[in-house]
Amino acid sequence: MSEQTLSNLSREERRFEPPADLAADANVKEEAYARADSDREAFWADAADRLDWGQKWDQVLDWSNPPFAKWFVGGTINAAVNCVDRHVDAGNGDKVAIHWVGEPDDDTRDITYAQLKDEVSKAANALTDLGVKKGDRVAIYMPMIPEVVVAMLACARLGAPHTVVFGGFSADALASRITDCDAKVVITSDGGYRRGAASALKPAVDEAVEKTAGPDGQSQVRHVLVVRRTGQDVDWDDDRDVWWHEAVDNASADHEAEMHDSEHPLFVMYTSGSTGKPKGILHTTGGYLTGTSFTHWEVFDLKDDDVYWCTADVGWITGHSYMVYGPLANGATQVMYEGTPEKGRWWQIVQDYQVSIFYTAPTAIRTFMKQGREIPDGYDMSSLRLLGSVGEPINPEAYVWYREVIGGDRCPVVDTWWQTETGQIMISPLPGVTAGKPGSAMKGLPGVGADVVDDDGQSVPDGSGGYLVLTQPWPAMLRTLWGDDQRFKDTYWSRYPKQGFYFAGDGAKKDEDGDLWMLGRVDDVMNVSGHRLSTTEIESALVSHPKVAEAAVVGAADETTGQAVCAFVILRESAGDGGPDIVEELRKHVQKEIGAIAKPRQIMVVPELPKTRSGKIMRRLLKDVAEHREVGDVTTLADSTVMDLIKDKEGSGA
Ligand code: PRX
Repeated sequence: MSEQTLSNLSREERRFEPPADLAADANVKEEAYARADSDREAFWADAADRLDWGQKWDQVLDWSNPPFAKWFVGGTINAAVNCVDRHVDAGNGDKVAIHWVGEPDDDTRDITYAQLKDEVSKAANALTDLGVKKGDRVAIYMPMIPEVVVAMLACARLGAPHTVVFGGFSADALASRITDCDAKVVITSDGGYRRGAASALKPAVDEAVEKTAGPDGQSQVRHVLVVRRTGQDVDWDDDRDVWWHEAVDNASADHEAEMHDSEHPLFVMYTSGSTGKPKGILHTTGGYLTGTSFTHWEVFDLKDDDVYWCTADVGWITGHSYMVYGPLANGATQVMYEGTPEKGRWWQIVQDYQVSIFYTAPTAIRTFMKQGREIPDGYDMSSLRLLGSVGEPINPEAYVWYREVIGGDRCPVVDTWWQTETGQIMISPLPGVTAGKPGSAMKGLPGVGADVVDDDGQSVPDGSGGYLVLTQPWPAMLRTLWGDDQRFKDTYWSRYPKQGFYFAGDGAKKDEDGDLWMLGRVDDVMNVSGHRLSTTEIESALVSHPKVAEAAVVGAADETTGQAVCAFVILRESAGDGGPDIVEELRKHVQKEIGAIAKPRQIMVVPELPKTRSGKIMRRLLKDVAEHREVGDVTTLADSTVMDLIKDKEGSGA
């Protein structure tokens, strides 16, 4: 984030105290900070005690071989049993787990915990029949339908780690993830609904499976389990493909769940790093479930009669931690919506289902702000009592609008900072304790060590900026990168080896009160609408096009999406000027290679790229161009006239 935005941030001076009734009855009160500080492990052990364990742990944390943590060592647990069976056993089987809202009007389903338990058990039996065993990986590529939750929990029940790939990713992206984690089965659907139309998914799976075939023509994917959602035509391979409604609906609803080791892998979630190859973030069972369920109860102050709604897609970590595992482990009632944020539809859902806790991303809030408050003002949203934000810094304007227009000026806003890697919320206000400051995520939650440090790892004084680090291990922390311990160490733990800090990759600032302000990534990772994209990955996609010789990608500030993808490309000589449609051709190419979310907002065809004498592209200068700023210091460029050539191009609108 630029200094310009920072100064805007500090202009909002208001503080918002917690509502008195919420504060009085809050799940977590001020004393929790001191309690956690005095004995961090005892604090997290209490959090773990909220769950049902097979065998209790002997040791809370084993940190004898950092950075490889083990939590609740010797304990055994089943995540699916904690998310469904135990609520049924406690007499809450009739409680609605999921109010599912399909995109087409009136396409809704309410699923109770008892029904969810039956579905998960059936799916676990069906997967067993397809040969899935404990430890096998299962890829899931699905729209936002209840079966995706059932599929994830069925995998968890069996101890078969899932890897959910966002449905907006391309066949290529899916194939590389299937290959990296060696998935044996893929669960998908014929399609899903997007903006009023059926959009196919199965063809991408067919293509991806084909791409994973080895030299013998055989893919490691033995079966594709297909949910019928839209009813559209699909190609079918009789040996490989199986309909969900045949395999699962006919399976038994009795399934004896095994208790898995606390450190048994629960899932792998791929995310963008600063190199082209996505990282497979590994989360394990006991610590992850402890961290997500506890923080969900703590940060959202969850009560038994709340109706909770997290708008994230299940294909991202927010969907895993705060739509599936956290809320379900807590026995919450929640809304799940298949579609995208269209005008008014979200607020209609809030009104219809009396949503009381709402969790979304700043990019959505800014979009609604642009559309005007008349739309949300048309609905009764008095059921809301708490609002959350995640994925990127929330600017004070958006925070205040969210609070006033959506929250009726009575709901606290919790700005939650965390990452795919952290698994759980790490930095956030506590709704019953903290006086909210628009734009600040405030401080580390009880039990979390968060600090801002300088290049040497020294804590910076209040009023200064630096790098965000996590100073203590936490239960839901990633355990490694799938199959790549070395990259795990290099990426997160090599920056401050002396102190043993986890390097988050974010810049941050402490204000005069010591509260934290997130300033965005300090590496080559962009944040577009709260989604993480790697500049290098998009550059690789561009240079894989036959007409492109070289490419540089930057994330430029964007009013709605936070950042937007801007690409600068040099064409091969053989391509001439690339033809009249070159820009559109390249945008489509990126969409095909990675997915629509990575499609550049802007592509400029340029004669040269700004490089240092050692050949490193100076993205900072390109960012200046993309953000229409005066170009910064060019003295380290090998050829300082290059920027004039690029600016000429921009001026001509090419
Ligand atoms: O830069 C931070 C930003 O999102 C990154 C993590 O992205 P991802 O792993 O995709 O997870 C997103 C959802 C948890 C972080 O490194 N980020 C996330 N939440 C915030 C944030 N930046 C500022 N404020 C936040 N509340």
